[in-house]
Amino acid sequence: MNFRQIEYGSAEYDAARELREAVLRAPLGLSLSANDLRGEEHQLHYALFTGTDELVGCVIVVPASDGQARIRQMAIAPVHQRQGLASRMMLELEANVIARGFCSLSLHARRSAIGFYQKLGYECSGGEFIEVTLPHRKMSKRLT
Ligand SMILES: CC(C)(COP(=O)(O)OP(=O)(O)OC[C@H]1O[C@@H](n2cnc3c(N)ncnc32)[C@H](O)[C@@H]1OP(=O)(O)O)[C@@H](O)C(=O)NCCC(=O)NCCS
Repeated sequence: MNFRQIEYGSAEYDAARELREAVLRAPLGLSLSANDLRGEEHQLHYALFTGTDELVGCVIVVPASDGQARIRQMAIAPVHQRQGLASRMMLELEANVIARGFCSLSLHARRSAIGFYQKLGYECSGGEFIEVTLPHRKMSKRLT
C-alpha cells in the first residue's frame, strides 16, 4: 500500500472522486454536488493505492487558520474495508499534516463512523446535526 498526496484535477483526483461518489453519495441516492466540490482546488487531496496502483481510499484536508485543519470525504472502497486501511491512512495523514505545521484536525463524523475515529483518539463535541441526510457529530484531535 502506498499513501500519497494527489493533485487536484489529475487522473488520480478523478479516480478519488469516483470512489467518493460510489462510497459516500450513491448509497444515499445522492451525487456529489457543486457545493461538495466547491473550493477543492485549494484543498489537499490524498489517496491510498495498492501495489498495482489501484486507488482504494481517499481523504481531503481543508487548511484553516491558527494551525487547524479539517478533514472531509474519507472513504475506503467497500471490498477493502475492515482491513486496517483507513486507520493506516489516517496515521500517515496525521504525520503529513503535522509536518505541514498543523496542530489539530477536526471533522464531521457520520454517526456510523464515530467508533472508527474514537479508536484513533478523536473526541466528539457538540450535539448531533444532519448532513447529506445522515446524523453527524463534530470530532477533533490535537496532534502535538
Ligand atoms: C469508516 C471507514 C473509513 C473505515 O475504514 P476501514 O478501512 O474499514 O477501517 P479500519 O479497517 O482501518 O478500522 C480501524 C478500526 O476501526 C474499527 N472500525 C472500522 N469501521 C468502524 C465503524 N464504522 N464503527 C466502529 N468501528 C469501526 C475497526 O474494527 C478497527 O478496529 P480494530 O483496530 O480494533 O480492529 C470505511 O468503513 C468507509 O469508507 N465507510 C463508508 C464511508 C464513511 O462512512 N466515511 C466516513 C465519513 S465521516
